[in-house]
Order: sequence, then structure tokens, then C-alpha cells
Amino acid sequence: MTFDLDMIKKVYSDFETRVNDARAFMGRPLTYSEKILCAHLDPKQVKEAFKRGESYVDFAPDRVAMQDATAQMALLQFMQAGKKQVAVPSTVHADHLIQARVGAEKDLIEAENKNNEVYQFLQSVSNKYGIGFWKAGAGIIHQVVLENYAFPGGLMIGTDSHTVNAGGLGMVAIGVGGADAVDVMAGMAWELKFPKMIGVKLTGKLNGWAAAKDVILKVAGILTVKGGTGAIVEYFGDGAESLSCTGKGTICNMGAEVGATTSIFAYDNNMSKYLRSTDREDLADAADAVAHVLKADPEVLAEPQKYFDEVIEINLDTLEPYLNGPFTPDLATPISQMKEIAEKNGWPTKIEVGLIGSCTNSSYEDIARAASVAKQAKEKNLEVKAEYTITPGSEQVRFTVERDGFLKTFDEIGGKVFANACGPCIGQWAREGAEKQEKNTIVHSFNRNFSKRADGNPNTYAFVGSPELVTALAIAGDLTFNPLTDKLKNKDGEMVLLDEPNGDELPRLGFDVDDPGYIAPAEDGSKVEVVVSPTSDRLQLLEPFTPWDGKNITGAKLLIKAYGKCTTDHISMAGPWLKYRGHLDNISNNMLIGAVNAFNMETNNVKNEEDGQYKPVPDSARQYKADGVPTIVVGDENYGEGSSREHAAMEPRHLGVRAVLVKSFARIHETNLKKQGMLALTFDNKEDYEKIQEDDTINFLDLDQFAPGKQLSLEFVHADGTKDVIVTNHTYNAGQIGWFKAGSALNLIKLMEKQ
Ligand code: F3S
Repeated sequence: MTFDLDMIKKVYSDFETRVNDARAFMGRPLTYSEKILCAHLDPKQVKEAFKRGESYVDFAPDRVAMQDATAQMALLQFMQAGKKQVAVPSTVHADHLIQARVGAEKDLIEAENKNNEVYQFLQSVSNKYGIGFWKAGAGIIHQVVLENYAFPGGLMIGTDSHTVNAGGLGMVAIGVGGADAVDVMAGMAWELKFPKMIGVKLTGKLNGWAAAKDVILKVAGILTVKGGTGAIVEYFGDGAESLSCTGKGTICNMGAEVGATTSIFAYDNNMSKYLRSTDREDLADAADAVAHVLKADPEVLAEPQKYFDEVIEINLDTLEPYLNGPFTPDLATPISQMKEIAEKNGWPTKIEVGLIGSCTNSSYEDIARAASVAKQAKEKNLEVKAEYTITPGSEQVRFTVERDGFLKTFDEIGGKVFANACGPCIGQWAREGAEKQEKNTIVHSFNRNFSKRADGNPNTYAFVGSPELVTALAIAGDLTFNPLTDKLKNKDGEMVLLDEPNGDELPRLGFDVDDPGYIAPAEDGSKVEVVVSPTSDRLQLLEPFTPWDGKNITGAKLLIKAYGKCTTDHISMAGPWLKYRGHLDNISNNMLIGAVNAFNMETNNVKNEEDGQYKPVPDSARQYKADGVPTIVVGDENYGEGSSREHAAMEPRHLGVRAVLVKSFARIHETNLKKQGMLALTFDNKEDYEKIQEDDTINFLDLDQFAPGKQLSLEFVHADGTKDVIVTNHTYNAGQIGWFKAGSALNLIKLMEKQ
């Protein structure tokens, strides 16, 4: 069911040799993350002194994890690659589509009914291609990965931003878009800009109410939501070693909230203990044997300022509990200052609901410590003022904490246990009354607290804290309550102080579970049929995109000339459209509807040259496509910035757009366009953007000579018969031109597979 020990042993067998080699070609001592990255170079990657923040490097990750929302399009695409099996161990986790409403059991049944076709598809496609499937209710991707797959020294990618959670087990784990996952599963290299390195030195030891969560809440306050962009945050120091493995996971998980590429801790005894406790003794032994390399070089630790781009120091001895929020995870307030700051800002201080759990904070230790606070409500005869919910991260944790009596404790304070799934963390919380949009406050131990994130209500003030602090605040029902100093009045009128939380890091009786919810793939999947109903509006099998016919594209029309910012959200909006992530034709109805038309400064209203009518962008595109008229999209600077969402490249391709010509591209989107067989071009002279008119007809003049480094010329014939020839640049290498010729990168892989 679980990890691939042979694969991991292979990684360890020459890890030290690779690190020694890397130290030589990098010409300096290495951080722990650099060791892992350099030990996972793609075989074809040229070894040289990579420059942080500059060099684009090809890597060979050890594994891939996908959650159910992003896995749909990734796997539909993977099916196009013509492979029999995935090239690296991969898993799918059904966790994002489960709504939290009345409680685990009923909510799960409802989710299974509602998402049945998506689950059937994911299960059958996983079964066919050798992918492990974790069914609905098995747990949240990152908790399940930590319990089963993460390993020190490994490199993994996952189609979810909090994949970084696995850094708690000493792994470089990075969140990516579906297209990257497809590449790796199809056996291609995975490209990443070599990250910068931020070092966080932890000294001392947590005590009292302070928890691992408070480390990252403080770091978020220092770095802010953008401070980690393009960097790996690497923790070290005696304080780092004192933290539990799952506590490290929490810290790494929320590294996503500072924009970090990932976060990581070096291998240590607490990781070894966690591996043993989660039934991976062999792996722990194998990691112990190479422990001396699974950390930064001694020179780096001795002089961190010299080897990291930035160093932060935090003393755990004096760390206070924090509450971060509202509306942003980097607004960090120590609990002792909350009263004053909340009053100053006019934040509503009555707490309506306290929510613990999620992929960020649902370890055994988290639940045990929260329960130690919850049980004091009964012992000290306190009324629990707020509602309280628990979202376990996995069935293994849920089963174990139930066995050990913690769920009973929560039940006694009126706690409601939701399914082992994302639920309230991703807006899948059918919170009663949320539609009234009343101003209110909630506290939770999740990671994100943007407006509307939990319950869809823009007036919900969400604050993020440790599970133990959230529990204390739920009892008090008051945001300004500081459990370190403040007393609560109990039902007898006595003033009582809550004792400090306590709880075991790992279960004394070991973890236990009845049905972990894992479905292993077939040994030979060749006979397995992938289940997709042709009438489904959520799923659609992909048709391969048409290969290039070798001729110049002529008679093309301008679909839209986008003005100003055009992010992947403008190109393929999220929100209600997420439902159609697995259905390319349906989701294409959101194509470019957020882009501003440069000719009328309106969104989703463009002129169609065939009938002269103004209409929504997708409608115009469909009309051209039906009539066999190719189209091009023109854009401004940094076109396609934002996310790595592959839909933003697939939709135009699907609706007949042949080229995207812009002043500049966001690099990931440019690559995604190339992968889908489109032409991604930039103006040689940016001022030529102004020459393009609404009624233009566009002819490529030399596409038949498409070659690396060679400019392409496009003729724009204006309505009055005048012409402008516009010279464009591109960054296609020979291999990428092969993608264009074949119709897409996946078409090319398929062709090569057949040869
Ligand atoms: Fe799910 Fe929230 Fe984690 S959406 S994966 S529980 S960040």
C-alpha cells in the first residue's frame, strides 16, 4: 500500500556520491535543500554552478501526488501520452470535493453521491496507469503523504500548493500545476528556477502554550505573504531538532503562506521516530544510515549568513502564541497584544466558531494537546461559548484519536467531527446562515484565511492559531482572551485559569486504523476501462490537438487584443468554474472573459469579424472555430502571470487560437502554451502592439521556416487595405518546436512511444 522502499533505497545508495559531486560543481558547501536538488538532477541536465534565482534546471522528482480537483485535467492529459504506466510512483487523493455540513458520516455519503462520476473516473484512471488511489474519507493529501510516502532526502511534486507539508519529513516537496505533474508521470524532466535560500535558525525549546504553529505564524509576520517567493525556507538549529516531526510539517505547510517554493527541516531523531511510529522501520533504518548527509554542510551551519540569502533567528524559549489575521495569514499578533489591537481595529471579538484540524494541524500531537484543553471545560465546569469543529487529516489519525478517547472529549464540549477532508478549509463548509453575510469572527488552525475562504461570507473575520489556542478561545468565545494570563468565570461563578496544554507527540499504543481507504492499482492495467460518461458535464475525455500542417497560418483573425494585466485568472477564471476542471469544452466557456478588450475597454465583449457583432470572447472564438478561421490573441506585459493553471493554455488551443502575441510572458504560462502546441510570441518592438487593429487579418510569412532563435514575421492587413509587418521573437528550442509540429508535447510523447 505504502511507500516504495526499493525506490528510496536507490535514492540513498548514491546520495552521498551525488552530493560530493554537487559540492564540486557548485564550488561551495551546500544547504540541505541544495543537496536534495542536486541529487535529483535530470540525467540530461548539464552540471554547473547553478545561480540561485536565475538558473533554470531540469530535475527528476521521485514521486507525484494529486488532489481530486487538480488531478482531473492532469490525468485526462496523461491519458494522451500513450503510456502504459506512470513513470514515477504517483497517488490521487479524494479530499477537496467533500462538503462539511452535518458531520463526517452523512457528509461523506452526500459527497459520494454528488461526485460519484469524478471519483469513478479518478479511481479507474488510477487503476489503469498504476496510480495509488485514496478514496473519499481516507484523508487529506498532505497528511496522507506525510504518513505514507514522504521520505528524508526525497524530491516530490504535487498538484496542490500545500504539498510543501512533506518538508516536515525532510523532503523537498513542491506544489505545481497539472501540466508539470503530467510531464513527470510521462517520464519527462521537470524544470524549476534554482531557488534562493532563506535560513531560519531556531534556538531553545517550545514551552507552555506555544506550539509549532506559532513558529510559522511568527515567520509569516516577518516575511509577509510575498517574502518567501522563489526561495526555499530551510530551518536549522537545536530548536529545529526539538520540534516533533508533525510540528515541522505544520511549519513547512504554511511556508506556502509566505510564498516560499517550499520549506524543509534536516533529518533528525524525531523524524526517525515518526517513521517508526507510522510503520516504516525499514525506511527509518535506511535514512539513519545516511543521516550524516541529510542535513546542511557544517560550514553552512557555522556561518549561515554567508551561505543563505537571508537568515532569521527565532528563540523558541520566549515564543508566544500568535493569532494571525483577519483576511491575511501574515498579520501576526501575539496573543498578549490581541485585546488592544482588536479594539483599535474594531474587529468583532465574539468568537462564533473554533475549527481545528485540516492538512495543516491534525497530527496526533495537535489533537492530543487540543483535547487536553477541551477536557478542562468539563473539569472546571466551564460553559463553552463558541461552536467547535474538528477536521481530522486522515482516517489513521481519526481512528487513533477516537481509540484514545480524544473524540469523546470533543464530543463532551459539543464538538462536531467533520469528514477527513478539506471541508471548511477550502470553502466547502455549508455553514448555516453564512448567506446572510453577517460580520462575525471565527478562529481556526488551518493555513489560509483570505476573505470568503472558509464559509463564503466576505464578512467572516478568520484568525489562524494553534489547535490548542483555538480550543481555549472557543471555550472563552472571546478573541481577546489570553489563556496565559486571563481567568474565565465558570458555572459556579468562580474564576478559573486553564492549565497549559499537554499531549503525546506520538500515540503510546501506536497508530491504528481499520480501513485506511487506500485502493491499490491493478498490476496490469491494460484491460482496465476508464469510466467517463459521454453525457457528463464535469468530465470529458480529451481529443489530441491537431498537428501543424507545415504551412504558414493565413487569414487569421484577432480574437482579442487584451489591455493591461491579463493573469491566468483573467484567462481562465476560478470560482464557480472549478466544477468544470475536468471538462475542457465546458470550462472553455470562461476563456478570457476577464481580459479587458483594448478597443472598448470592456471585458468579455469583442467584435467578431464574420458578422461584425460584439459578443462574449468564447462565443466569438467558437464561431471562428466552427468556420475554420484561425485566431490569435494579443496581450500586454507579463501575460499569463498568476498560477500554473494549464487550463489557461488548453482553452485557447481548444477554441482555435493558434498564436498568442504579447509584450512579455509570465514564464510558466509561456511554457504551458508551448506544451499545448501553440505559438507563444513576443513583439520584437513592443510599440508594435499599438499597430494592431480590431479588424485585422493576420498572415504568418515565414512559419514554414520555424527554427530556434529565428524571428517570425506576421503581416497584419488592416481594414483599409494597408499592412504592417510585425517581427516577433520566440524562445522555442528544437524539442519545443517538435511539440508545436506534433500538435502538443503529449502528442510528441505518444509518437515517440510508438516508435
Ligand atoms: Fe485541503 Fe486546506 Fe489543506 S484545502 S489540502 S486542507 S490547505
